[in-house]
Amino acid sequence: MANEDKFKKVISHAKEYGYVFQSSEIYDGLSAVYDYAQNGAELKNNIRNYWWKAMVQMHDNIVGIDAAIFMHPTTWKASGHVDAFNDPLIDNKDSKKRYRADVLVEDYCAKIEAKINKEVKKAEKRFGDAFNREEFVTTNGRVLGYQEKIDTILKRLGKSLENEDLADVKALIEELEIADPMTGSRNWTDVKQFNLMFGTKLGASAETAMELYLRPETAQGIFVNFLNVQKTGRMKIPFGIAQTGKAFRNEIVARQFIFRMREFEQMEMQFFIKPGTQKEWFNYWKETRLKWHKSLGMGDDNYRFHDHEKLAHYADAATDIEFNFPFGFKELEGIHSRTDFDLSKHEEYSGKKLQYFDHEAKESYTPYVLETSIGLDRMFLALFSNSLQEETLEDGSERTVLKLPAVLAPTKAAILPLVRKDEALTEMAKAIVEDLKWEFNVAYDEKDAIGRRYRRQDAVGTPFCITVDGESIENHTVTLRYRDTMEQKRIKIEELRHLIKAEVDVKHWLMKMS
Ligand code: GAP
Repeated sequence: MANEDKFKKVISHAKEYGYVFQSSEIYDGLSAVYDYAQNGAELKNNIRNYWWKAMVQMHDNIVGIDAAIFMHPTTWKASGHVDAFNDPLIDNKDSKKRYRADVLVEDYCAKIEAKINKEVKKAEKRFGDAFNREEFVTTNGRVLGYQEKIDTILKRLGKSLENEDLADVKALIEELEIADPMTGSRNWTDVKQFNLMFGTKLGASAETAMELYLRPETAQGIFVNFLNVQKTGRMKIPFGIAQTGKAFRNEIVARQFIFRMREFEQMEMQFFIKPGTQKEWFNYWKETRLKWHKSLGMGDDNYRFHDHEKLAHYADAATDIEFNFPFGFKELEGIHSRTDFDLSKHEEYSGKKLQYFDHEAKESYTPYVLETSIGLDRMFLALFSNSLQEETLEDGSERTVLKLPAVLAPTKAAILPLVRKDEALTEMAKAIVEDLKWEFNVAYDEKDAIGRRYRRQDAVGTPFCITVDGESIENHTVTLRYRDTMEQKRIKIEELRHLIKAEVDVKHWLMKMS
């Protein structure tokens, strides 16, 4: 399936099977805002839980908090978001459409990258088993030329953005002859900065109301609570504070479904360390977070690191873990070495000391911070798009299957009486539901022929189907069907819990990280 078709299928499947709906759909929707439906909410909870277990429960030096979305407005002045949380925008004078100038350039580079991939595919075909990708991309003249072009463009873009040289960003767009993707026009305005924070007001009367922002990242709720947590938890450096929660950004180019939303959820962890150790911790968290992703079995080749040329105002090093989405490799998670920027700024703006006293060294210092920040919605999209597969079976028929990692699947097992009209079967199936539901999210389905029910559960991503038939009444056994292989096994009802647990248990999956 072509990538564009695949992505369309992902969006329609998410709606059809109760994962994601457009927000306020009956009023024609709200752009770049989405609601999670009955299965989507379960998947989201499971992802959040998988992250929380790995980050908080499995680390005795990381604790979790839940800070408010509203924060004192000075927070955002101190953090730099009021002055520097901007996107460089450019308007097309003919189409009146607005774009992120850096995204236009990056999309241009992505097209060159597509040419590299084409060359690789061609060579792969030509050389067969003898093909060595690494050797090819580092020696083939055409590929090297393309890569050099990408590197030169991105380097210049990074430099211009860092120096706030917006005139050069425009010059770059013009030199590359980048056209409006919608209309082909090259009639551009100058590039301008646009702040991404949403403003709101706290208080009843217009005169006394306080101007607030909806938080654009969850991280600041952690920074302002650094000392509260350190003291009440008697935490010793190095230690981390984790949090999941909503963040809001007035994204201008909000497209690609739940990839870039205006209201989204982050899972962030700030790791407080001794100044000078940031390089070591940066490498540690890069490796640890990649292992977490890989533990879910979505294909190791689908991840890559992308080190930042242009650093955010708070960072001295940063990398993205990129995932191979249906529209190409894009940022899934950021790992940032944030220095002591945030704590120092909050200290300066609040006038309160935010330092750590090291009892052994008998000295106080402002800790440095290593941050891991992942978008829950993006993780959802990565999982969902990667898991959605079309298969042609041996008999030539097609099946659509959502091969979500069993640990994250919304429903772990569907219990299906073979015949709806047979009361003994339905009663037994319902008894199994009653028993299993204490431990797993399970479903009961008695409608339609068994084959159709299997297909329905495949499409919704349920890893197990348990079928109750005539033999079940005789010998207390059922058929256990595996979603991914479609293999069926006859097993004793008493064994069900144990068998399902072995496959869906968080421990079983997280152990893959070690
Ligand atoms: N505290 C650091 C921070 O917020 P970021 O790179 O701006 O860094 C971190 O965001 C992660 O949040 C991204 O890697 C992405 O997964 C997610 N994210 C950012 N903006 C988003 C948006 N508009 N919609 C969905 N997810 C978003």
